[in-house]
Amino acid sequence: MPLPDPLTRHPIPGWKGTAFLKAIIDHPLIDVGDYSYYDDSRGPEHFVARCVRYHFDFIGDRLIIGKFVAIAQAAQFIMNGANHPMGGFSTFPFAMFGVEGAPPVTPGALGHRGDTVIGNDVWIGREAVIMPGISVGDGAIIGTRAQVSRDVPPYAVVVGNPGTVVKTRFPPEIVTELLAIRWWDWEPEKIARNIGVISAADIDALRAAV
Ligand SMILES: CC(C)(COP(=O)(O)OP(=O)(O)OC[C@H]1O[C@@H](n2cnc3c(N)ncnc32)[C@H](O)[C@@H]1OP(=O)(O)O)[C@@H](O)C(=O)NCCC(=O)NCCS
Repeated sequence: MPLPDPLTRHPIPGWKGTAFLKAIIDHPLIDVGDYSYYDDSRGPEHFVARCVRYHFDFIGDRLIIGKFVAIAQAAQFIMNGANHPMGGFSTFPFAMFGVEGAPPVTPGALGHRGDTVIGNDVWIGREAVIMPGISVGDGAIIGTRAQVSRDVPPYAVVVGNPGTVVKTRFPPEIVTELLAIRWWDWEPEKIARNIGVISAADIDALRAAV
């Protein structure tokens, strides 16, 4: 059975709560890889409005999501525009209200932390919060309601607030090999032929499929 077309809006027959993000996002500051999906029983088409917060054009930070990323309901990507200026005595954003003499709100004044980058084959649990400028490595898992404020290494499992790595899914040598194999970059037909080995944890079998 082939993989579904990554531009399918609702790839699960009979369920409109899941959408491939590529089919529903058209945003100059958001990149999404094939097959990455958002699931929300209230309607996944509201992903950008509900999950990507404080994302302002004038700041220009990007949300980059790899391939085969699974994002559960109400996960939040907090972007750099969330921050108020913190260098002065007051954090009140006077400039937003057009108050004369207020320092302009510039990306620099907000302590810009750069783009948010989510790797490939990442699973983001329900109501997890990813703070500005965070990179989440390939194969990582972000637990329900985790508050991620530090970069996440590949294949790590992060839970809690502040988000802490509680384990790594595989031994380091296997992680190194998985990061070299990058099954997510294979042709869809090859992925489809090898779903069994990709979904199992037998490195010899995966190696043989390369
Ligand atoms: C992160 C997760 C995958 C870990 O599952 P697991 O590998 O079976 O891990 P365990 O249950 O053995 O938990 C490991 C430790 O982390 C803690 N933990 C697990 N998930 C946690 C969470 N979401 N928040 C806080 N702590 C958590 C456990 O209490 C345990 O702590 P301990 O070692 O001190 O006892 C899972 O708990 C989770 O959050 N899944 C996301 C579910 C979800 O949101 N699904 C949405 C639909 S796809």
